[in-house]
Amino acid sequence: MKKLKLISLLLTVFMFTTLSAQEFKYIGAEKCKMCHNKPEKGEQFNKWSAGPHANAMKSLKGAEAQDPKCLKCHSTAGHVDAKAIATLTVAEGVSCETCHGPGSRYKAIPIMKNQAQSIANGLIIPDEKLCRTCHNEESPDFKGFDYAKYSAKIAHPNPLAAK
Ligand code: HEC
Ligand code: HEC
Ligand code: HEC
Ligand code: HEC
Repeated sequence: MKKLKLISLLLTVFMFTTLSAQEFKYIGAEKCKMCHNKPEKGEQFNKWSAGPHANAMKSLKGAEAQDPKCLKCHSTAGHVDAKAIATLTVAEGVSCETCHGPGSRYKAIPIMKNQAQSIANGLIIPDEKLCRTCHNEESPDFKGFDYAKYSAKIAHPNPLAAK
């Protein structure tokens, strides 16, 4: 009996995660900007725009900008499943949602204010492992990766967030 319950629980969890994974769509940084660009809260959009990730497509010249081998790391929209894209563009490069997960479901304020609910709706809290999916030897221009140093360079904390 116990075994049966466990199996049905696992099945439900599996169905829920595969179903909802398909529902999470990439919406693009412009959509995050309306709530995440206030100076007193750390203007995440401006910091990202001025940083390396938003400008990653500018490093690809000519045919490289269509080459899946380069897009894999230089553009989120350039490598994720096309069905998962709502309004994200290739030109956005390494977008917010590369690190934070597709935002279509978690972007609503009541969900965003609750971390557990945000995660259930697709939010990712990025860590070193995620960075290393791109910052590794497969990159023709790999310069090594020191998480502390690299995350400080792209930091965009919210000074008002209780931590
Ligand atoms: C309608 C407003 C709104 C939109 C749109 C929105 N957010 Fe948020 N987000 C919030 C609020 C409110 C919080 C809670 C903290 C705060 O008050 O700033 C939050 C928190 C977060 C956090 C911190 C989560 C945690 O618990 O550590 C991340 C990361 C985040 N948002 C990323 C994004 C990204 C990426 C997008 C776009 C895909 C986005 N948000 C769109 C309002 C929004
Ligand atoms: C989807 C791939 C991808 C992920 C994930 C990623 N990056 Fe990057 N990152 C890039 C690319 C591509 C560049 C180079 C942009 C350019 O100059 O064209 C870059 C550049 C950088 C730079 C600038 C390096 C320099 O030489 O000045 C820093 C710092 C950085 N990333 C930090 C991080 C951190 C920290 C994480 C994880 C929280 C992370 N990145 C996750 C793709 C990624
Ligand atoms: C595995 C992920 C990955 C792949 C694949 C990749 N890149 Fe990059 N690229 C990066 C990262 C990360 C950086 C940032 C350099 C660093 O700090 O290591 C970068 C930096 C660059 C830069 C800037 C170099 C500099 O000195 O600032 C250029 C140009 C570039 N890549 C071109 C390309 C081209 C062209 C391709 C396809 C042939 C490609 N990349 C494939 C991850 C990747
Ligand atoms: C290369 C990966 C990367 C990209 C791109 C990125 N972030 Fe982040 N973001 C991080 C990391 C790492 C943290 C710190 C997570 C932690 O608290 O440990 C973070 C934290 C945040 C937080 C929480 C800040 C706090 O102190 O509570 C918000 C809000 C946020 N990001 C929004 C955005 C938005 C909006 C964009 C795009 C405009 C964006 N991020 C792009 C990696 C990224």
